[in-house]
Amino acid sequence: MLAITYLGHSAFLLEADAKTVVVDPFLTGNATAARAASDINPGTILLTHAHNDHVGDTVDIAKRTGAQVIATYELASWLQSQGVDNATTANHGGTVAFDGGTVKLVPAWHTSSYFDGEAFVAPGVPAGLVVRFGGATVYFAGDTCLFGDMRLIGEEGLDVAVLPIGDHFTMGPADAARAAGFLAAKTVIPCHYNTFPPIRQDPQQFKRLVEEQTEARCVALAPGEVHQV
Ligand code: NI
Ligand code: MN
Repeated sequence: MLAITYLGHSAFLLEADAKTVVVDPFLTGNATAARAASDINPGTILLTHAHNDHVGDTVDIAKRTGAQVIATYELASWLQSQGVDNATTANHGGTVAFDGGTVKLVPAWHTSSYFDGEAFVAPGVPAGLVVRFGGATVYFAGDTCLFGDMRLIGEEGLDVAVLPIGDHFTMGPADAARAAGFLAAKTVIPCHYNTFPPIRQDPQQFKRLVEEQTEARCVALAPGEVHQV
């Protein structure tokens, strides 16, 4: 049994077998965040890319808890340079084990950089994440546009696909509904919307699109809500 809690924006908490994983923990400075960074005690932190609205509180949480952080090579290396000792470098196509599960990094079409105070640094390329944990397979698309190789990711056999729908920086609802068709996940959960004005969207309209056009069920979670797989 896997419990997926939406923390707002692209942040999700995964809990199974008394183990906790957090994905893209942008909580401080996120007006929609359902939890404070200080309340999160993960064993594992998974990151899709280096943008501040995804790395978020990673350095603070990792230093406080000693959680293993898994990310693409350049981002994990940059986190090590920030004092995160337990950061694992990986890359597209690779599967990495963590406490209780595995993550396979897959491509995402986006950019990846970090605004570090005055300095604009650019750690690597973005990724999507195929997470096997708690008996379920969950795909986090990260920030991406629609791309045809989502069909290959769908061949992983997805229980859940977590897709950005905000438009402007990522695919919007129409393309995300097409993505849901390519991925053939049993359940689709939208994210990366209604955090900032340019990404305002109606998740119920997205739900109607997905359920009209695909076999998937769409579950739009409000920040703090939980989906059980
Ligand atoms: Ni981004
Ligand atoms: Mn983003």
